[in-house]
Amino acid sequence: MVFWLAGVILLFALGLGPYLSHSPRSQCRCGPDDDCWPSLGAWGALNGTVGGQLVQLSPVGDVCHEAKYSNRSCTELIQHFRNTTWRVENPAALQVHTWEYSRQQKQSCHVSDPLEPGQCDRGRVAHYSAYVQSVLEVQEVVQFAASNRLRLVIRNTGHDLAGRSSAPNSLQLHTAGLKGIRHVESFTPQAPDGRSIPSEGPAVTVGAGVLTGELYSAAAEGGYTVVGGSCSTVGIAGGWMQGGGYGILTPSRGLGVDNVLEVGVVTAQGIYVTANQHQNQDLFWAVRGGGGGSFGVIVHVTFRTYPDVPAVVSKLNILSPHGPDSAFWDTVTDLLRTIPILVDRGDAVQAFAMPVLPGNQSFLTIESYLIHDSHAGGRDALDELQKRIEDRGLPVESSDEPFDRLSTYLALPKGLDQAGMGMMTASRLVSRDFMKSAQGPSRISQTLAQLSYGPGDVLSLEGMVGGPAVQRKATADSAIHPSWRSALMSLTLGRGLPSDPDWDAYDRIQNELAMTQLPVLESLEKGAMGGYLGIPFPYESNPSRVFWGSHYNRLLALKGRWDPDDLFITRLGVNSERWDEEGMCRVDRKQVYLRQYYKFLDRVRAWAAHRVGKS
Ligand SMILES: Cc1cc2nc3c(=O)[nH]c(=O)nc-3n(C[C@H](O)[C@H](O)[C@H](O)COP(=O)(O)OP(=O)(O)OC[C@H]3O[C@@H](n4cnc5c(N)ncnc54)[C@H](O)[C@@H]3O)c2cc1C
Ligand SMILES: *[C@@H]1O[C@H](CO)[C@@H](O)[C@H](O)[C@H]1NC(C)=O
Ligand SMILES: *[C@@H]1O[C@H](CO)[C@@H](O)[C@H](O)[C@H]1NC(C)=O
Ligand SMILES: *[C@@H]1O[C@H](CO)[C@@H](O)[C@H](O)[C@H]1NC(C)=O
Ligand SMILES: *[C@@H]1O[C@H](CO)[C@@H](O)[C@H](O)[C@H]1NC(C)=O
Repeated sequence: MVFWLAGVILLFALGLGPYLSHSPRSQCRCGPDDDCWPSLGAWGALNGTVGGQLVQLSPVGDVCHEAKYSNRSCTELIQHFRNTTWRVENPAALQVHTWEYSRQQKQSCHVSDPLEPGQCDRGRVAHYSAYVQSVLEVQEVVQFAASNRLRLVIRNTGHDLAGRSSAPNSLQLHTAGLKGIRHVESFTPQAPDGRSIPSEGPAVTVGAGVLTGELYSAAAEGGYTVVGGSCSTVGIAGGWMQGGGYGILTPSRGLGVDNVLEVGVVTAQGIYVTANQHQNQDLFWAVRGGGGGSFGVIVHVTFRTYPDVPAVVSKLNILSPHGPDSAFWDTVTDLLRTIPILVDRGDAVQAFAMPVLPGNQSFLTIESYLIHDSHAGGRDALDELQKRIEDRGLPVESSDEPFDRLSTYLALPKGLDQAGMGMMTASRLVSRDFMKSAQGPSRISQTLAQLSYGPGDVLSLEGMVGGPAVQRKATADSAIHPSWRSALMSLTLGRGLPSDPDWDAYDRIQNELAMTQLPVLESLEKGAMGGYLGIPFPYESNPSRVFWGSHYNRLLALKGRWDPDDLFITRLGVNSERWDEEGMCRVDRKQVYLRQYYKFLDRVRAWAAHRVGKS
């Protein structure tokens, strides 16, 4: 401890602290206050190339503040604040609205309830948004951003949980208008020089802006199924696929990345390329798990499709009247023993534990999807689970809903879409070996029981990230962390953030997740397992290790090849360590090392502060 404190003192004694936050301007992109920012005429010309669909953005809350106040617009904003579709459609809004705020600059355009006139600052909201509707328009925007050295951000639905679909001082490329869904019975990837290659069977090609729910509806109508997530307003071809992508068909059909047959991409040079197993194989490998906003603009993706199957959706709701006591955590142990049985059959489980609810109660809700040809084995495992819980004296409410066609269930609106809420997540994968070991399940629940939970904290147990199809070697070669192939579950902790810009509370929650919760999740398997890039801890101190592990060096090399000037940079993303927090200025190698050292010291300081606070 003493050594680190000495290190901090030395760092500041040498005057390095301030040095770390500055870069020579030549290493920076052009911001709105710089001479190199495009003139109004230049923006007008860009507008012409995107069919007049360039808009100047201001924060959504500005209509509730002095200069731009409008009773009608403000009333509409308040009415739609939690409306996920409204947020998808509004380029200045994000689903997790706290990412519209800038914690660094302490800026927001918060709309308080009851309404009070206050200041409206831009925060992390982009200055311009270009709504693109064709490959050509994507190319125009990419070339404009590259030649004007702008901070370009790709924004689809704005669901990102680490602020990666927005950035201060940026130009936003808005992909929501790239629609189109085409299903074919026999899909043949495009080969170079017209070589003939075999068909891959039935597949669907979707535009980058297609929402999961839109694809599910088309699939229900067409009588096929496709792997996708649970939230209907998440973009399936944007961030979901590039982060890995899981859903209830994952144990039986694989991850999102395992089901991609082809992608169309506009590169940093503004060139449109097709990537699949036959051409541009390296880019094809990188976009499947390398992360959104890092290798190019995806214009469309072709996914494998599957026959429709009957399914049973089974729910168990358990209310523990005495809070998170031993009966509650033993129930979690029982659940952890049941998940591998279901997942190994190709069924899926999604459970949410809420340890602290009003009235000293705890709640556990378990949703299982029996999609195996024969539902009997899964049913037995669930009956056994229910019996155990009842034997513990906990009240269980159960229900079963059979569907002749799984596609019908998938297309139903789920009400899982939470928008206009602040939230910080942290996640780690858990291996199949550990979950199937004799002591694994009880070790996990004992460990989870030790964490401190606040009201509304949600512990999510996702039994749909691994299983037989994820382990299949033939489709396993992609950029995601290698530990996915031995994973069976993902554990995610979600903590609510105050809706108003309470910077101290955000700091406290970040520190607690970084110093206590995440190290505990990490310790379960001593750092061997990765975390899910799509639902990450947004301040992960070593993203390359956690999200890609041994795949990172290859990703870096491919980044250098496809985007040598780092036009595409996101928080936590590939090569982001060479840029400042918001991707505006490059940091040189010396600074990279110093910054890592500085971050480490920061963690030690926060850890020490946390310990002191606890004792
Ligand atoms: C309520 C909720 C539920 C979720 N449920 C699931 C789930 O069931 N399963 C699961 O696997 N994940 C789930 N996620 C995580 C989700 O997959 C990620 O948030 C995902 O990144 C969202 O992608 P998007 O394109 O919709 O969002 P955006 O925020 O618009 O984009 C996310 C990232 O992808 C980049 N990007 C978007 N489009 C493109 C493109 N065309 N080309 C290049 N880069 C692009 C953006 O720059 C950004 O970095 C959930 C998230 C939320 C908030
Ligand atoms: C782009 O052009 C359209 C149509 O001419 C216009 O309505 C819009 O205001 C322009 N956008 C900007 C940012 O100038
Ligand atoms: C709009 O005006 C009405 C009537 O004056 C008022 O009651 C209401 O609070 C206003 N709403 C907002 C959001 O300002
Ligand atoms: C949510 O917003 C969308 C788009 O603006 C709108 O069509 C829909 O009616 C809204 N839903 C609710 C419940 O208000
Ligand atoms: C809440 O539940 C715990 C057991 O988990 C118990 O020890 C405690 O006394 C309960 N508190 C109240 C106020 O009922």
